[in-house]
Amino acid sequence: MKGLIKSALNGMAVLAFSGGMAVSQEVEVLHWWTSGGEASALNVLKQDLEAKGIGWLDMPVAGGGGEQAMTVLRARVTAGDAPTAVQALGFDILDWGAQGALANLNDVAAAEGWDDVIPEALQYFAKYDGQWISAPVNVHSTNWVWANKAVLDANGIAIPETWEEFMAAIETLSAAGVTPVAQGGKPWQEATVFDAVAMSAGGPAFYKAAFIDLDEEALGSDTMKEAFDRMAFIRAHVDDNFSGRSWNLATAMVINGEAGFQMMGDWAKGEFLNAGKVPGEDFLCFRFPGTQNQVTFNADQFMMFDQGGVVSPEQAALASAILSPSFQSAFNVVKGSVPARTDVSDEAFDACGKQGMADLASASASGNLFGSMAHGHANQAAVRNAMYDVITAHFNGEYDSATAVEELVDAVSIAK
Ligand code: BGC
Repeated sequence: MKGLIKSALNGMAVLAFSGGMAVSQEVEVLHWWTSGGEASALNVLKQDLEAKGIGWLDMPVAGGGGEQAMTVLRARVTAGDAPTAVQALGFDILDWGAQGALANLNDVAAAEGWDDVIPEALQYFAKYDGQWISAPVNVHSTNWVWANKAVLDANGIAIPETWEEFMAAIETLSAAGVTPVAQGGKPWQEATVFDAVAMSAGGPAFYKAAFIDLDEEALGSDTMKEAFDRMAFIRAHVDDNFSGRSWNLATAMVINGEAGFQMMGDWAKGEFLNAGKVPGEDFLCFRFPGTQNQVTFNADQFMMFDQGGVVSPEQAALASAILSPSFQSAFNVVKGSVPARTDVSDEAFDACGKQGMADLASASASGNLFGSMAHGHANQAAVRNAMYDVITAHFNGEYDSATAVEELVDAVSIAK
């Protein structure tokens, strides 16, 4: 019945006729791509599928980082009404895989040679027990800074290379009466900044020990206190209205020249492009100072929920479309991310995209590619949420840095 209602609601559903029987070829896709830039990228996927005769039933759940989408997903699965395909990140995918809820994509993967072209770091999150359980769409990374070029030029600011230079640039903007940092006020956004800040404060070995290995010594260290001190400096340079603000509205502040910098993953680039802005002319992208050789990544994937034992033709077509080299280029150019395949040319990408692809390859080769804590690629949701709570409480002035360090150690030891 539910299926019938959904089909009736979706005027776009495409009907294919085989042997006189009408078969509804449609995928219901749950995702959190609701900002302007994200919606433009999603359209690339919708159009690709529609051209293949597959209808799209849209199930958007607003909320960057996907926490709300995951809550809706759990409710749908509990009600026995899982969507066909679901955007998901890192350890969440592995959790659903462990529950046996996902369709096995091995046949599509084998036919199309995914093992050879999808990097190991992504395969880790796309396979469970050796079986392909999701289709990687892209690779994003969180340790980027986005800047309004005219604002920087007007204040004589060059791209900062070190934390000290970054602090000086921020102070220059402050003195000039410009909001230095555009920040949204949601825990996942503060955690996104913390990915880069912690990496800059302690380097890759520290990042791995604290966020991936959950080493108590690293979590409770002076370096962690330094990371919280850096967050306090950033907090002192955001505007008064940041609380509750969405990430894309913070990006809009940089786009409009109301603020100088935003520290955000490269989905922010999608907003600049959607506003008709050009990298190098209107805006600048650079790695968070002190993390130039490192990449903290998150990869969007689509997991396909098991619809009764076998992967459906629509699910297989969606998975295949997502991994096709032409789609990987077309989609990621718009989204701000880089391809999930290593064999896609960077030709169609702008300067930030080309840098993203080069950084990813070199970080991966030098052992400096790490999963993003903020975006579910360092640890399971329980640990990530425990970290969110402490980072946010500190950002909002509830804890000083020394207390935040103690709280972090406790929260992680309870959650893990
Ligand atoms: C996703 C991106 C998305 C961003 C903001 C991240 O977790 O990986 O695709 O654009 O959240 O919504």
